[in-house]
Amino acid sequence: MNYRVPVPVPQVILDDVRGAQKMLSGVARVTPMENSRHLTALTGSPVHFKCENLQRTGSFKLRGAYVRIAGLRPEQRAAGVVAASAGNHAQGVALASSLLGVRSTVFMPVGAPLPKVAATQEYGAEVRMHGQVVDETLAAAQEYADRTGAVFIHPFDHRDVIAGQGTVGLEILEQCPEVRTILVGVGGGGLAAGIAVAVKALRPDVKVIGVQAEGAAAYPPSLRVGHPVSVDNPVTMADGIKVGRPGDIPFHIIGDLLDGVRTVSEDALSSALLLCLERAKLLVEPAGCSPVAALLSRPELYGGGGPVVAVLSGGNIDPLLLQRILRHGMAAAGRYLSLRLRVTDRPGALAGLLAVLSGVDANVLDVSHVRTDPRLGLTEVEVELHLETKGQEHCAEVARSLHAAGYKVMS
Ligand SMILES: Cc1ncc(COP(=O)(O)O)c(C=O)c1O
Repeated sequence: MNYRVPVPVPQVILDDVRGAQKMLSGVARVTPMENSRHLTALTGSPVHFKCENLQRTGSFKLRGAYVRIAGLRPEQRAAGVVAASAGNHAQGVALASSLLGVRSTVFMPVGAPLPKVAATQEYGAEVRMHGQVVDETLAAAQEYADRTGAVFIHPFDHRDVIAGQGTVGLEILEQCPEVRTILVGVGGGGLAAGIAVAVKALRPDVKVIGVQAEGAAAYPPSLRVGHPVSVDNPVTMADGIKVGRPGDIPFHIIGDLLDGVRTVSEDALSSALLLCLERAKLLVEPAGCSPVAALLSRPELYGGGGPVVAVLSGGNIDPLLLQRILRHGMAAAGRYLSLRLRVTDRPGALAGLLAVLSGVDANVLDVSHVRTDPRLGLTEVEVELHLETKGQEHCAEVARSLHAAGYKVMS
């Protein structure tokens, strides 16, 4: 029989976060707080962005990594550190180690975006590409730690990391003392746990609400059953919060202190990214947009509740992914429409179709013609169109006009 002796979960308290804040002085930027006029109008409460996308390394991760590595004993520092990450944690560990004069090795999955690999190397880490998925990369990093004695730096399940991330919460209270609600993205939970420790100790009246992507939401079921449970194959464009299982230490803190964890759809994430870019002129990665996605999805939940701070936790995004997400966001907002339809293969047929589109003021961005598909009749041709549209109502008008003109829209 297996007897499991319950291991006490290490506590993180306000003093830890205050200690972390002292350590980070002159190392991490006190990132700006920006007002969002658009979200203020939408929700009816003042909405501010805490811009950790403008942090050194492009995310809050430097804070936790630095505090964790600074806390190592001299012989541990001498052995170097190792981490596994596809992105922000890698860069945080790389820069923190360089600043502290500690050697770092970072394992990254084989498909990690090149700009992130390059940035991690430029911050001073030795990068090793290993594994197709993060779990394999993690196993390789742990094996390296066992073999070489290097200290494994966990991305969220360590009290020093949580204390470091909690400094975001102290800054929010200093920069926006009137805050009533804080929204923050949750992956393993280190950032939300740290913020909650700081904020609830000083201002228990302030609500702290976590946000997860619908396809990678391990917290809601875990909180329901009272212990961390995994979601298999988490799927979301928000790679920073694509975590299959809550961390043990963050889970206990979040269970005790958070006022709820909400989930957001992929459409809401891409719309949020577009909004940050267009309205606020801020480049925010999908995980960092999750609080904005929560505000966009259910603005009525935040009206009348006083000022809201949305933590924009990171801004590192591969340009190719950015292009795809912007297109997704434009489509979700009805500003981009892709259609496939069949027309008769005769001269002038395409011109007729384009005339209908021009009649409803839909701008054609791209058009392609397929004749050779065996599913097409001999006299048919398939046309794929990408249109610039002006919102959901305009998309419906385009569809109505095509229908009225007798076109068969396939998708
Ligand atoms: C941009 C961004 N936001 C949020 C998170 C979630 O942080 P945590 O795992 O501490 O919940 C991460 C984690 O990598 C991240 O990179």
